[in-house]
Amino acid sequence: MQKWDERFSEEGFAYGVEPNDFLREKLENFPVGAKVLCIAEGEGRNALGLLKRGCEVHGVDLSSVGKEKALAFTQENGFKMTYEIADLFEYDFGEEKWDGVVSIFFHCPTRTRMEFHQKLERALKPGGLYLFEAYAKDQPEFGTGGPKDEELLYTTEDFKNSNLEQLHLEGVKREIIEGKYHTGMSSVIQYLGKK
Ligand SMILES: C[S@@+](CC[C@H](N)C(=O)[O-])C[C@H]1O[C@@H](n2cnc3c(N)ncnc32)[C@H](O)[C@@H]1O
Repeated sequence: MQKWDERFSEEGFAYGVEPNDFLREKLENFPVGAKVLCIAEGEGRNALGLLKRGCEVHGVDLSSVGKEKALAFTQENGFKMTYEIADLFEYDFGEEKWDGVVSIFFHCPTRTRMEFHQKLERALKPGGLYLFEAYAKDQPEFGTGGPKDEELLYTTEDFKNSNLEQLHLEGVKREIIEGKYHTGMSSVIQYLGKK
């Protein structure tokens, strides 16, 4: 069983049931009815926040355990999402297909990051939003979650070449209480861009 399936097989929700704080803060930027792609969606907490906002949500993730939990979780809450199992490094995001792409705590290696972000940008419709949060380079000092490999951690520089209109770009130290794996003072990069 792969790492993420193991983690999602544990009791409860690894990252909690509430949407990520940054997504919650920016939720009203997503128009009601927007078609949103949630990459590395895991157990469905961010999808549920977007569904409650009135968006249509399609999740993509490697983990079939995550998929089953997310579908059950959103359904129990009276909503329906679609969810595909795929490796994001092989995934066809499409062209001008989505009103929003949401990426929460997906840590893409530095060497493929630029190409990966370009694919996401192409996949957005004009006016579409890209919302991102992941751990920053100094996060290992905090020891409160996320990868320890520097290759997987971010800086604000990672977004400097973006072709999107920058609505928000910030390195933030903040208290994160998002499930047992992300708990405590942390260092993250937050980004919101508009095509
Ligand atoms: C830290 S979890 C975050 C889950 C979710 N975004 C959240 O905030 O609750 C990282 C997620 O990335 C997924 N993931 C990691 N590598 C992936 C890949 N190459 N393709 C698709 N999903 C991947 C894992 O299965 C896991 O669900």
